[in-house]
Amino acid sequence: MESNIHNFHKMSINERLQKLMEFSNLTDDDINKLSSWVMPMETADHIIENVVSRIYLPMGIATNFLINGRDYLIPMAIEEPSVVAACSNGARIARAGGGFTAYASEPMMYGQIQIVDINDPELARINIMRNKARILEMANTRSSTLKSLGAGAKDLEIKIFDDMMIIYLKIDVQEAMGANIINTMCEYVSPFIEEITKGSVILRIMSNLTPLRMAYARAVFPKDLIGERTVDNIIYAYKFAEHDVFRAATHNKGIMNGIDAVLLATLNDFRAQEANAHAYASLNGYKPLTRYYKNENGDLVGSIEIPVAIGTVGGTTRSSEISRIAMKILNVENARDLSCVLASVGLSQNFAALRALADEGIQRGHMKLHARNVAIAAGATGDDIDKIADKMIRENKISITRAMEILKGD
Ligand code: MEV
Repeated sequence: MESNIHNFHKMSINERLQKLMEFSNLTDDDINKLSSWVMPMETADHIIENVVSRIYLPMGIATNFLINGRDYLIPMAIEEPSVVAACSNGARIARAGGGFTAYASEPMMYGQIQIVDINDPELARINIMRNKARILEMANTRSSTLKSLGAGAKDLEIKIFDDMMIIYLKIDVQEAMGANIINTMCEYVSPFIEEITKGSVILRIMSNLTPLRMAYARAVFPKDLIGERTVDNIIYAYKFAEHDVFRAATHNKGIMNGIDAVLLATLNDFRAQEANAHAYASLNGYKPLTRYYKNENGDLVGSIEIPVAIGTVGGTTRSSEISRIAMKILNVENARDLSCVLASVGLSQNFAALRALADEGIQRGHMKLHARNVAIAAGATGDDIDKIADKMIRENKISITRAMEILKGD
C-alpha cells in the first residue's frame, strides 16, 4: 500500500484509523489503544519523580513519504498547527520527484573522560596510548551484546588543555541511542585511567554531539509543481540562512519541528537531538542544516546533513502503548533506517516551510488553525469551531474574547 493516501486530511478520525490499520497491519487492540490508551499513573510514577499527572499531545500522521523506494506513514506528536500538514505536503512534492534518497552512517559515538591534576600530561598521554587495547577491552566487558556484534569501544583519542586531559572513547553503539552504555563504559574504565595518568577523573559522560553518526537525505522538488519563481525564491531563502545566523536559527528550528515531533511520538529524547543538531550546525559558524540548488532541468534539489543519535532498543518507547504503536506504524528495520526517516522528515519540513515563506507567507495557512485553536479555547465544540474561526478571520479579529462573544450569539 502506498503512503499517498488520497484526502487523508479530510477523513474522520475513524476513517484515518481504518487506513492506518490497513497500511501498518495494526490489530483491533492497537486501534483501540490509539484512541483510548492513557499511561497509568503508576507507570508514569516509575518513569520520572514526583509525578502528579500526565500531559497529552495530539499525534497526527504525515503521509506521502517515499524513502529509498519504500512507503512510510510518519507519526508526529506536536502542539503546533500546520507542522503535520506541511510535512505531508513536502513529501508529496518530493514523491513526484522520485522520493527521498537517504543514508545513515555507522552508529559511532563519543564518550568523554575528563582528567585533571596531571603533573605530566605528555607522559600521561603516552601511558594511555600504551594501554589503549586494555582500556578498550575493559570498556567492552560492559556489554556482551555489543561485544558479540563486534561493536562497542573501538578506539580512543586524547586532547590536552594545559594540565587537563580529555579522553574521547569512540564507541559503536549499534541499535542503542547510546547514553547508557557509553556512560557505563566511561565510568568503568576511569579508576584505571586515574591509576596510569596519576590524575583525578571528574566527568565521565557521553557527548551529545555525534558527527560520526550522521544521516543524509536528498530529494528533487519538480519545478512544474512549485513554479520556477518559487524554486529561485527557495534558493534565496537558503542563501539567507547561509549568510545570516538569525535566519539560520529559524531555518533549523523548522527542521527540528518535524524531527522532534517524530521523536516525541516515539517517546525518544528530543533534547539530545536538539543539542546534537544545533552543535553540529555551529561547527564552522552556525549554518543551516539543509542546502538547495537547481539541477539541469531547473528542478529544485534539497539535501540535509544532520547528526542523528537514535536507538530502537532501550529507552522509554515501550513504556507507552502509543509510542510502541508509533514504532509499529514507522515499521523501520533498525536504528539506521529510523535515522533516514528522521533526516527525510527534517528536509520535507524545511522545504515546506521555505516554500510557504517564499510564496504567500505562512500566516494565511496558520491563521485558520490558530483561529480554530482560539475558538476551542473559548469553549466552542463541533461545528461551532469552524464557524467561529471563519467569522473571526473575516472580521480580522482573532481573540478568545471575540470567540466567546460569537459563541454567546453576538
Ligand atoms: C515555525 O515553527 C517554523 C518556521 O519559522 C521555520 C522557518 O522559518 O523556516 C516556519
